[in-house]
Amino acid sequence: MQILEVKNLHKRFPIKKGRSVYAVNGVDFTVEQGQTLGLVGESGCGKTTVGRCVCHLLEPTEGEILFRGKDIVRLSKPGLKNLRKEIQIVFQDPYGSLNPRKLVRQILEEPLIVNGVNAKDRRLRRVAEILAMIELDNGYLEKYPIQLTQGEQQRVSIARAFITNPRLVVLDEPTSLLDVRFRGEIVLLLKRLQRETGCSYIFISHDLNVVYQISHRIAVMYLGRVVEEGPPDTVFDTPNHPYTQALLAATLFPDPDQRRTGFALKGEVPSPVNLQNDQCNFASRCPSARDVCFESSPKLRIVGEDHYSACHEQESNT
Ligand SMILES: Nc1ncnc2c1ncn2[C@@H]1O[C@H](COP(=O)(O)OP(=O)(O)OP(=O)(O)O)[C@@H](O)[C@H]1O
Ligand code: SF4
Ligand SMILES: [Mg+2]
Repeated sequence: MQILEVKNLHKRFPIKKGRSVYAVNGVDFTVEQGQTLGLVGESGCGKTTVGRCVCHLLEPTEGEILFRGKDIVRLSKPGLKNLRKEIQIVFQDPYGSLNPRKLVRQILEEPLIVNGVNAKDRRLRRVAEILAMIELDNGYLEKYPIQLTQGEQQRVSIARAFITNPRLVVLDEPTSLLDVRFRGEIVLLLKRLQRETGCSYIFISHDLNVVYQISHRIAVMYLGRVVEEGPPDTVFDTPNHPYTQALLAATLFPDPDQRRTGFALKGEVPSPVNLQNDQCNFASRCPSARDVCFESSPKLRIVGEDHYSACHEQESNT
């Protein structure tokens, strides 16, 4: 069952002289209940903007975001309060996202207070429960964030997101600032929490290794659009879009069977200011580009079982 459906999402940020940054430029995807959608792509392709729109931290310029079948883009105040409990976000920088002047206990009690859990003993019971779920003992309650390791700080951020028992958590690069030794343990923790709570995730990352480990589906973004989507094994074993092929070729997988060769991505992502939608926006970097690629924008279309790609070259092959 779908918990989230995003339809034709656009987010433009107005800048000077009547121009706009086209951060998200017509994105569609779904997230199934209890599953993880991995959102990958180079810096600036719009991953965080999508995540923030889903969490209602940004208002989309256009499009629909259906959570449990209801459009949440224009919610009333009471509806929004409920939504904040059900959709949570975990940020990249655990230390930066925790108030350094508050104890772990206060940090974890805060969302409960906001959500009207007035009885202190109820709050403390829930805090103890969530602390056990993230495998920290009660001694941590009276510590400040600075007294924790990076891995422990990220565990506390995750606990804060889970304390209201959300149904969807957006994880925006939750492992990318962590030391390698903490990354694996955070991924294992997230997988276990998903099994225990049935919560769905949108997992945003540059790191294809991590995304592969945690995702049930993967959406590859380029310049504000999804250019390929499918199950991780399909996308990683038979990448269809030239951009996905290049991303995979640039990734060093621990398993030699997963390592791929392909053309090297050169140059920066083009500017997202006043992007036109009348060509393939990957054409300036694509070795397979031909005339049609500069004349019309390819649509996401089915290229295999449960596998979608937006590329003119592949259209002619399927
Ligand atoms: N408030 C804003 N005002 C103007 N432009 C913005 C704003 N927020 C984001 N952008 C631009 O929108 C585009 C998408 O940004 P976003 O942060 O969503 O990308 P990202 O894929 O998360 O990148 P990264 O991997 O570096 O986190 C970028 O070009 C960014 O500079
Ligand atoms: S549509 Fe053309 S330019 Fe775009 S990815 Fe496909 S082949 Fe390359
Ligand atoms: Mg980001």
